[in-house]
Amino acid sequence: MFARAALRTVSARSFSTSAVRQTRVAVLGAGGGIGQPLSLLLKSDPLVSSLSLYDIRGAPGVAADVSHVDTASEVKGYAADQLDQALEGAKVVVIPAGVPRKPGMTRDDLFNTNASIVRDLAAAIGRVSPEAHILIISNPVNSTVPIVAATLEKQGKFDPRRVFGVTTLDVVRAARFVGEVTGKNPLDTPITVVGGHSGPTIVPLLSQSPTGKTISGEAYGKVVHRIQYGGDEVVKAKDGAGSATLSMAYAGAKFTNSLLRGLNGEKGVITPTFVKSPLYESQGIDFFSSNVELGTEGVAKIHPIGEISAEEQKLLEACLPELKKNIEKGKAFVAQS
Ligand code: NAD
Ligand code: LMR
Repeated sequence: MFARAALRTVSARSFSTSAVRQTRVAVLGAGGGIGQPLSLLLKSDPLVSSLSLYDIRGAPGVAADVSHVDTASEVKGYAADQLDQALEGAKVVVIPAGVPRKPGMTRDDLFNTNASIVRDLAAAIGRVSPEAHILIISNPVNSTVPIVAATLEKQGKFDPRRVFGVTTLDVVRAARFVGEVTGKNPLDTPITVVGGHSGPTIVPLLSQSPTGKTISGEAYGKVVHRIQYGGDEVVKAKDGAGSATLSMAYAGAKFTNSLLRGLNGEKGVITPTFVKSPLYESQGIDFFSSNVELGTEGVAKIHPIGEISAEEQKLLEACLPELKKNIEKGKAFVAQS
């Protein structure tokens, strides 16, 4: 029931299954805290025809379990030594592989462990399924996305239309928190969030929302802080047992569904995501999250951030140098590999 109810929202705008080209989706890290509920939600998405679940431990068990859900898609689990088989024929690869934070850690503290995990998975994708659209959840997203891009670039396989950092959880939180403050249904208060995915690099644009722009003064500062540091709330509450998994699975399934709708030719699918972007390239920042229109080849159009308030301009000024550092760190890692 949980999966169906969630997916009613996730795919609320999807069209009839008979009209769509269905798709094989691979999840790398499917045995983890995010991977398991994400796999369940993807099993319920009518746009997914086949699910390949891979992890260095536990994926066949997760696959056996999820495969009993009464939707049409096929599910197969792959063990640690079966990465290539898991990737064969994948149109979309979602990556939640890697370690999560514990209290007191920043996302950047995960770099040393997760950078090589993501690099090695990207190299396998470049080799086995170079046409796949790659959705990166593993933190620190501001660095792991450049790592994937640079790894594919080394292989001559990088297509900037096909590599996405999943920042949807920031968008989901922004709608929820603004809804809470204003007493509105979050589904009626979508908020664009730009920049990157960590603390000051998360820049919510409340001024562009009729509901968001009604929040001012102390309440504005509080809600912006909550959107930027929502991840910390969960890390603290889980008290050493990890970070957001369920809300992230929801956000990951939501973004995957948006991408699949775009790939299937639906017009007007627009959502923020962290991609190779020209918006701040002149300042040496070549990855950035802004509203992106998703089309049959992935990224169809990168929207500029549009008009923003003086407060948001300040947030953006704080975002850019930090983001630049994170991106450069990811690129340097691949250059030295
Ligand atoms: P987890 O530890 O519960 O699960 C991670 C899984 O990855 C494990 O099952 C592990 O076996 C697997 N794994 C490790 N190395 C692998 C490899 N080489 N190939 C395949 N699988 C591998 O962690 P989690 O809570 O699911 O979080 C996963 C990642 O997602 C973390 O880096 C976390 O910070 C990040 N995250 C990102 C967002 C976001 O908004 N983008 C939100 C929440 C968490
Ligand atoms: C989040 O925003 O919840 C994730 O990036 C996980 C984390 O480390 O906070």
